[in-house]
Amino acid sequence: MAEIARRRPVGVVTRGTTNPNRLRRVDNWIVESCGDRLRAAADPLVVDLGYGATPVTAVELRGRLAAGVRADVRVVGLEIDPVRVAAAGPAADPPWLTFARGGFELAGLRPTLVRAFNVLRQYDEGEVADAWRTVTDRLAPGGALVEGTCDELGRLGSWLLVDADGPRTLTLAARLTTLESPAELAERLPKALIHRNVPGERIHDLIRALADAWQSAAGYAPFGPRQRWTAAVATLKATGWPVLDRPRRWRLGELTLPWSTVAP
Ligand SMILES: C[S@@+](CC[C@H](N)C(=O)[O-])C[C@H]1O[C@@H](n2cnc3c(N)ncnc32)[C@H](O)[C@@H]1O
Repeated sequence: MAEIARRRPVGVVTRGTTNPNRLRRVDNWIVESCGDRLRAAADPLVVDLGYGATPVTAVELRGRLAAGVRADVRVVGLEIDPVRVAAAGPAADPPWLTFARGGFELAGLRPTLVRAFNVLRQYDEGEVADAWRTVTDRLAPGGALVEGTCDELGRLGSWLLVDADGPRTLTLAARLTTLESPAELAERLPKALIHRNVPGERIHDLIRALADAWQSAAGYAPFGPRQRWTAAVATLKATGWPVLDRPRRWRLGELTLPWSTVAP
């Protein structure tokens, strides 16, 4: 078991809102898109940074990674609030799942993957780059941070893959059966983008282009929202947006693009 350093955690305590199954979309994406990093790792250590008032999403992350990537993956839930660390204790399953106090400095751990969800949302936009750098400087070689935001039930979400070279991709994800328009995703963008959804910014162009493509694909609605989303993403791609993932992921209500196409 890696040693947890006892030092002052970097960051501030924020609201602890969480919910069972809230992070299923990002977890499924992590299994698919970050699985190879974990399979190649000598020590498949994952940190769930800022797990909130209860550790339910950390428990779920360990379960999904163990089932979908490798059984010996270890998850450490780090939380800056010591009360929440103490409360998480009964859910621990050492060495596979443990909880400790820590912040962006990762309590001295060197994980291959960090998931930080709904954490930076409560910070200032100007603090984001430093927080990313503090985390990525401490990753194991080839490691990555998945940082994002979602609504309370996990129906709408978005996240960035950030590595030692900075942000690499943006993924948008929605529960299609309740989606009226992709414009709803604008409220659940990562902190680095949420205040940039204004004319003149690329993320604004993307959300508008996706909403327009969804509107033009209305004829697919009778065949179901998956067909409609798939048609909308295909239109987006055909009009020059460098969509990175495959139709198999689009059918899940996802869309991944290079960071460079949306960076402020
Ligand atoms: C809204 S909850 C998110 C819970 C869970 N990740 C989710 O998405 O459901 C945010 C949690 O992050 C914690 N937090 C904020 N900054 C942190 C930091 N720098 N390091 C560790 N935890 C942090 C807060 O104390 C809070 O419990």
